[in-house]
Formats: sequence, C-alpha cells, structure tokens
Amino acid sequence: MKNRTLGRTGYEVGQIGFGAWGISGKQWIGATDKDSLAVLNKAIESGVNLIDTALAYGEGKSEQLVGRAVAEAGKRVYIATKVPPKNRLWPAREGIGIDEVFPYDYIIRSTEESLRNLGVDTIDLQQLHVWNPAWLDRDDWRRGFEDLRKSGKVRFVGVSINDHQPDSAIPLIETGLIDTVQVIYNVFDQTPEANLFPACLKHNIGVLARVPFDEGALTGRIDENTVFPEGDFRNSYFRGDRKRQVAERVNALIADLDLKQVSDLPLVAMRFCLSHPAVSCVIPGMRSLSSLESNLVASGQGPLPDNTLALLREHAWNRNFYS
Ligand SMILES: NC(=O)c1ccc[n+]([C@@H]2O[C@H](COP(=O)([O-])OP(=O)(O)OC[C@H]3O[C@@H](n4cnc5c(N)ncnc54)[C@H](OP(=O)(O)O)[C@@H]3O)[C@@H](O)[C@H]2O)c1
Repeated sequence: MKNRTLGRTGYEVGQIGFGAWGISGKQWIGATDKDSLAVLNKAIESGVNLIDTALAYGEGKSEQLVGRAVAEAGKRVYIATKVPPKNRLWPAREGIGIDEVFPYDYIIRSTEESLRNLGVDTIDLQQLHVWNPAWLDRDDWRRGFEDLRKSGKVRFVGVSINDHQPDSAIPLIETGLIDTVQVIYNVFDQTPEANLFPACLKHNIGVLARVPFDEGALTGRIDENTVFPEGDFRNSYFRGDRKRQVAERVNALIADLDLKQVSDLPLVAMRFCLSHPAVSCVIPGMRSLSSLESNLVASGQGPLPDNTLALLREHAWNRNFYS
C-alpha cells in the first residue's frame, strides 16, 4: 500500500481507506457482522490504515465493529468518525440554524458516545456529518472542536461536505480551523477539481474522497434488472428510471475506455480518484473480500495517463440522486 499525507494532520495514510457505512447493517442491507469483521481484518492486514465511520451508521453499530477490528489488529489504524446532525437531516438544509443541528453540548456528547462505541480514548479525526456555510461564524462548532482537542478526546477535526456542494466548504477551510474535508469525488462528479481541491492544496487540508463508485453505479454492476434488498437505501438512490440512465452512462464509459470486461471498471474508478494530487485517501465501501482485493490493486498502479483522464472528463455527469 502506498501512503499519502493527510494534509496538516501529518498522518501517513494508505491511499486506499475503508468506508464503513455499508457494514452498519442499516440502510445498506445484507452485511453480517461476521463478514464485515472478516473484510475489516483483511483490509487492515493488507495495509489499510484509515477507516471512515460515523455514529449514525447503524446508530453506533459500524463504530463498534470498527473498534473491535482495530483492537484485534493491534496495529496503528486511524479512525475517522462523525457527529450526526441533531435534527437527523442530511444534507444540511438552508435556513436551519446550527442550534438545531450542532449545538455545543451535543457535539461533545456525540463524541463521547463515539469514544465508547469505538473503545478508544481519542478519536483521530472527528468530522461534522453535514455542513452549512451560514454557520461559519458561530461559536458552537468552533468551541466544540477546540474543547474536544484540548481535552484530548479528538486529535484532528474536519467536515463531511454536503452532497455535490464542494465549494460550500471553502470559506471554512480558509478559517484555518479544520484539518480535513470529506467530499464526493468520482468519475461522474468531478466538480471538486475546480475550486475545492486547489483550496485544499493551498491550505494543506487532507482530503477523503468518498463514494468513489457513485454508490455502486461505477462498478458496472447496476442495470435495469438490478434488485436491491428491501429497506436498502439504494432503492431510493436508484429509483424510477435511474438504473436505466446509469446503465446507459456506464456502457458508454466502458465502450470509450475500450475495457475488455465490465469488472475492469472499478479499478479505473479508483485510479481516477487517486490521480488527483489533492486526494489523500479514497474510502470505498466494501462489504466483500472480492471488492477489497480488487480495490487494493489500485494502490500499486499510480495515476491514470493524461489521455485517459481527458476522456473521463467527457463522462462527468452532474445530477443529485440523493434528493
Ligand atoms: N455524508 C457522508 O459523510 C457520507 C455519505 C456517503 C458515504 N460516505 C463514506 O464514504 C464511503 C464510501 O461510499 P459508499 O460506501 O456509500 O459508496 P461507494 O464506495 O461509492 O460504493 C460502494 C459499493 O461499491 C461496491 N464495490 C466496492 N468495490 C468494488 C469493486 N472493486 N468491484 C465491484 N464492486 C465494488 C460495494 O460492494 P460490496 O459492498 O458488496 O463489496 C458497494 O456496493 C462510505 O462507506 C462512508 O464511509 C460518507
């Protein structure tokens, strides 16, 4: 596993991290704890040393599994987690004040709950799970983060940026008060390249690139006939005509890239994310050993050639399936 520095945290993190939403057993249906632990164990054994989880993932379930796997591994693994919005609304809504979403006491209490779930004394990276630039000057998050650091409950802090709104975090980066951002970045949503990534490079902000497969679309495994388990969030994400739209886009991508087989696409999707120098770590969701093994290959392969990146630019697709 090749490492990169996670911005000003100074953490040397493997280029490929682990996105631990899918293993929570809620929203993503199907993962057993036994299978999730097996994938986590294998990931850590293979050099993955950053895991992204959240208190909201299965109401602590994902954090508990991550904590268990890290404790059993006995290796230095950086754990990133998140404070959920108190009003449980993703993304942050315009016009809703920070007192309903991240009041000071709530930030502290949530972090303490995450510490208990993870079974650790300090969280390596605590993130706000949504962000609204209207809260920039508010004391709640500033004092919350400051006090958590002073008390040793967290080492570094960041935000997970609202879906498809990369620029909304730029004024926050410029305050110098956060260390990392987490942002959607993949072949379809390339918008962070325009303004967010240059700002991150300028201010030495670590970047966790999330949803590298557009929730599975960029694995090439989704078409009109794909059926997700009942209760799985992808029934909503890929609702209506969207699976057909995805299949059409992905088929065009595969044809343009001249890929021999559909299963070559995930590697291109991962290498796309790693090709940008602002990206510190890509955090794919992986509930199976086969996904893990396939993704680890990307770390050894380096950036995509310029002509491939130019071709992929033509396949950017701006839309919001979360709404
Ligand atoms: N607001 C936020 O802060 C936020 C929102 C979304 C996500 N995230 C973070 O970002 C992480 C990644 O996003 P995500 O998990 O939602 O979606 P994703 O990484 O775009 O896609 C995950 C899907 O891709 C499949 N997959 C992974 N590698 C594969 C491979 N090599 N070949 C074929 N299929 C492969 C997985 O299958 P299997 O699971 O079956 O292996 C899973 O179905 C999350 O786990 C979470 O940590 C944060």
